[in-house]
Amino acid sequence: MLSERLRRLHKAVAPGARVADIGCDHARLAIALRRSERAAHVVASDVAAGPLRHARLNIAHANVSGIDVRLGFGLDTLKQGEVDTIVIAGMGATLMVEILERGKAVLAGVKHLVLQPAAEAEPLRCWFLRNGWGIADEEMFEDAGFYYELLNVTPGGSRRAYHLNRVSVELQCVFGPHLIKQTTDVFRTRWRAALPTLENIVADMRRSRDPRTERKRLHFERRIAFLRQLLA
Ligand SMILES: C[S@@+](CC[C@H](N)C(=O)[O-])C[C@H]1O[C@@H](n2cnc3c(N)ncnc32)[C@H](O)[C@@H]1O
Repeated sequence: MLSERLRRLHKAVAPGARVADIGCDHARLAIALRRSERAAHVVASDVAAGPLRHARLNIAHANVSGIDVRLGFGLDTLKQGEVDTIVIAGMGATLMVEILERGKAVLAGVKHLVLQPAAEAEPLRCWFLRNGWGIADEEMFEDAGFYYELLNVTPGGSRRAYHLNRVSVELQCVFGPHLIKQTTDVFRTRWRAALPTLENIVADMRRSRDPRTERKRLHFERRIAFLRQLLA
């Protein structure tokens, strides 16, 4: 059975899509997408040989067709126009940005990115803004005690999503323009739980005399002030 996280990734893929799952690891998502026939075809790609051995065994065991397994960094394993949807899940947002930056030629033919970063999505949201991608939709959910964000991103489109009244682009990149607009119980619980940690970070930073720390501290203080207002 799929975990809640993988179930949401599966649901985010449009029916009939030609998908690449970058960093496929066990290939559970690829297998589910083909077993349900939600995806027309899946390229299951990973930078490491070990996970791909595991992926091949799982695919053979599941007895599904329509999955190509490929070894390589990020989008290097894809040809332009070969897929319309790219899923990248379970790795850090900074690495995802590196993959997208290096794979710009392949991205030219892609209609939909489904991204679920392992931790904060901020570097991704900043990258979309600079590179002409729009966040069509965002969700935050909990699975087995962990909080996750899932971003549906399309070319061009809704750069206006970042133009919420009275909220800076910086804060929208941190918290997500759609997530801020309509805060859910999950969003509120996740950020209420994070507030004490953010406050401790700021308290530590106040003891430093390094000007770079000062800039970071101001950044964190803006986050805290915004959260307090939003969650009040
Ligand atoms: C934590 S697993 C996530 C697996 C799966 N995507 C999921 O969400 O359950 C991260 C996978 O990304 C792969 N990976 C890391 N860097 C990569 C890169 N630059 N290109 C492709 N795959 C990468 C790792 O080898 C690993 O299998």
